[in-house]
Amino acid sequence: RWPRKVFSGVQPTGSLHLGNYLGAVRKWVEMQNAREDVTICIVDLHSITLPHNPPVLRENIFTMAATLLSCGIDPAKSTLFVQSSVPEHAEFNWILSSLTTMPRLAQLPQFREKSRLVKDVPLGLYVYPVLQAADIMLYKATQVPVGADQLQHIQLAQHLARSYNTRYGETFPVCQALIEDGNASRVLSLRDPSKKMSKSEANPKATINLCDPPDVIVQKIKKAVTDFTSDITFNPGKRPGVSNLVNIHALVTGQPIKSVVDEASTLDTAKYKERVADAVIEHLRPIREQILHHMGKRSELIYLLEVGAEKARQQAQHTLSDVKQRLGL
Ligand code: ADP
Ligand code: NA
Repeated sequence: RWPRKVFSGVQPTGSLHLGNYLGAVRKWVEMQNAREDVTICIVDLHSITLPHNPPVLRENIFTMAATLLSCGIDPAKSTLFVQSSVPEHAEFNWILSSLTTMPRLAQLPQFREKSRLVKDVPLGLYVYPVLQAADIMLYKATQVPVGADQLQHIQLAQHLARSYNTRYGETFPVCQALIEDGNASRVLSLRDPSKKMSKSEANPKATINLCDPPDVIVQKIKKAVTDFTSDITFNPGKRPGVSNLVNIHALVTGQPIKSVVDEASTLDTAKYKERVADAVIEHLRPIREQILHHMGKRSELIYLLEVGAEKARQQAQHTLSDVKQRLGL
């Protein structure tokens, strides 16, 4: 009954790493190019729930916008905008906050994890998942690509849509999570292949950023943790380090795992790492060039984001006026 609509939120953290790109952003671009209705929201209101640095946040919003455009998000096909430029997100957050309970929010794993790190827990951190539900529901999204750690938040959004529909009449689809960091697209840390590549990893050499220059990529891959066997095989359970390199190689070249391994049969790990680094550099080169290009044209970026915000506002206003009507506001 509901038209398929894809919505994804991304925090303005500045740059993205190879895992975010291969596991998430590249799939959004594929959906966009398959003519799906895709909305990407840079969720800056989520980024102020913990202490932050305002000039850095503003710069990170632009870097994220430039990065998404460079990865292939096309503002002519998709809606790309910044959350705080559509005030309906905050307004709808307030309305939804009356449809859930404090205990329900308190038990969410991400809140429990993050609130442990601060002495006085900000209310915004607590309400964060309600705002996330508002982001999704304003656009009546049906598919929400997220990492596995977001599953409970999507369940809250589902609960809020159902509660709302029961109380006020059928208005919102119950969205589905599309879990992104599944096996095939899961990129592991270069320093500890028992973990996924993540910006929260302290060692900067563990992650490849989309903006890393070629020589940095070569160094990081050269130092990637492998094992004491020198031939190239794919066995994620027994040889996670080498298998991660094979997987990255396959993902950036678009080749099947098997042919990547076959072609590497005469190489040892040191030589193979050079080959993987070349393939990653080749794949990221146009993206990095585009990021630098967009960053140098600030007024164009501002314009593109304003066009996106205008598209988003139209839908958000439409949804919210219906909501207010039904609530007697
Ligand atoms: P991080 O772990 O770096 O903080 P996030 O949790 O913000 O990344 O995830 C942003 C998106 O990128 C999510 O959709 C998630 O599925 C995807 N993602 C993050 N890390 C990886 C990874 N190592 N491999 C594949 N996908 C990833
Ligand atoms: Na994370």
